[in-house]
Amino acid sequence: MFNKRIKIKELLATEPQNQQATVMGWVRTFRNNQFIALNDGSTNNNLQVVVELGKFPEELLRRITTSASLKVSGTVVPSLGKGQKMDLKADSIEILGDSDAEKYPLQPKKHSLEFLREIAHLRFRTNTFGAIFRVRHALAFAVHKFFHEKGFVYMHTPIITASDAEGAGEMFRVSTLPFDNPPRNEDGSIDFKEDFFGRPTNLTVSGQLEGELGATAFGDIYTFGPTFRAENSNTARHLAEFWMIEPEMAFYDLEDNANLAEEFIRYIIQFALDNNREDLEFLDQRLAEEEKQLPQDKRSEMGLIEKLNFVLENSFQRLTYTEAIDILRDSNHNKKKKFQYPITGWGMDLQSEHERYLVEKHFKKPVILMNYPKEIKAFYMRQNDDGKTVAAMDILAPGIGEIVGGSQREERQDKLEQRMKEMHIPAEELWWYLDTRRFGTVPHAGFGLGFERMVLFVTGMNNIRDVIAFPRTPKSAEF
Ligand code: 4AD
Ligand code: MG
Repeated sequence: MFNKRIKIKELLATEPQNQQATVMGWVRTFRNNQFIALNDGSTNNNLQVVVELGKFPEELLRRITTSASLKVSGTVVPSLGKGQKMDLKADSIEILGDSDAEKYPLQPKKHSLEFLREIAHLRFRTNTFGAIFRVRHALAFAVHKFFHEKGFVYMHTPIITASDAEGAGEMFRVSTLPFDNPPRNEDGSIDFKEDFFGRPTNLTVSGQLEGELGATAFGDIYTFGPTFRAENSNTARHLAEFWMIEPEMAFYDLEDNANLAEEFIRYIIQFALDNNREDLEFLDQRLAEEEKQLPQDKRSEMGLIEKLNFVLENSFQRLTYTEAIDILRDSNHNKKKKFQYPITGWGMDLQSEHERYLVEKHFKKPVILMNYPKEIKAFYMRQNDDGKTVAAMDILAPGIGEIVGGSQREERQDKLEQRMKEMHIPAEELWWYLDTRRFGTVPHAGFGLGFERMVLFVTGMNNIRDVIAFPRTPKSAEF
């Protein structure tokens, strides 16, 4: 058996009592031919391995270079040096993998996030990305824990689909037809009957419609999987491939939906604070350092952990779309023409600058906007009695903008079919969806949380490319 090691995080939590330990990891630095800072990814804290002078051959010591991988066995003793409570006094050192430190792209100095994106295959080995991805893991785990404890069924909805849930039409085609010479119909159009599935198919933009099928049997379900959008938005908030959590609940109205979303967001933040304190403290400091470079008025009013605690302690501001438009229209910001998209009036879609104004300048806390004009929302949202709005909700977070989109669903078959007709959504293709309204329809609701936007919020990072391992964005699919 090879893997008889203790993880450095676990070892550092023990007391040094001359116990034996074996660790494995990568060299961060090697000082004075004596002190190895070893990191194994379990924590940002390195273990100091002490190499007694004269105990090991010169030839071995020369191979202990930054990023070389080692197996070290020895005795755990109280450290004589400052900054760490223990040292591992090496009895044996085995080089598992050599590394040419001259060619290794990560030098022990500060690299820019832009540069690290170009070497995303190695960036996990930095403290910043170590912390981010351990927090990301904790949040993902907390998602499952939250829903499991509430009796939700985790449902794996399909990734390849023939429907376009959002009606947005910005999808990636899935096909095995030859690009250069696809089979054609007599009128020259492509003959998808010859394609793998015998019809046009796409990567899913959302698991919601299938999720609704599950909710109308299990009561409560959630999905957590990759979703794909071919929208050409090259922003710090958009990915072409992102992960979404979509709970769907039978017997829920819009208010129940908003309550669950708020509870859920708090729960996963609390979980990260409880389980990843060290990493969050690191990210808190990183952000503070970063913001020192900014002019005073561009800095956040709160530190990262302070902000997370604030969200735990304060309820989200709920208001209607109509109220939000009034606030925005009457704002000095609008009057002084500071919005790139001026507020033209009721019915307009909100841009992220408007969302961020509401959250960051006006309310200074997360906001749940409800009851949007039906024209700017999807066909499946429940129509309100005013004939103008639907029971939609978006949750807006400071520094991020929209983090959740959801709604109560239209459970009345006639209303749903009429809305589909108005929006030119072919009922034949969605026969299975409509069946749920035919056979024991119930009030139900759900929402989608963009996982990377949540990770952005919790880590205090600025660019969504830095919170997913290998970002997929327009013109970029390296690694
Ligand atoms: O608002 P959206 O489009 O809603 C839906 O897809 C619904 N079917 C959800 C539901 O009700 N079950 O997307 C939901 C969330 C957004 O609020 C945002 O956080 C995230 O998904 N999102 C993106 N994240 C990263 N990159 C993109 N291109 C995103 N598009 C949406
Ligand atoms: Mg949305």
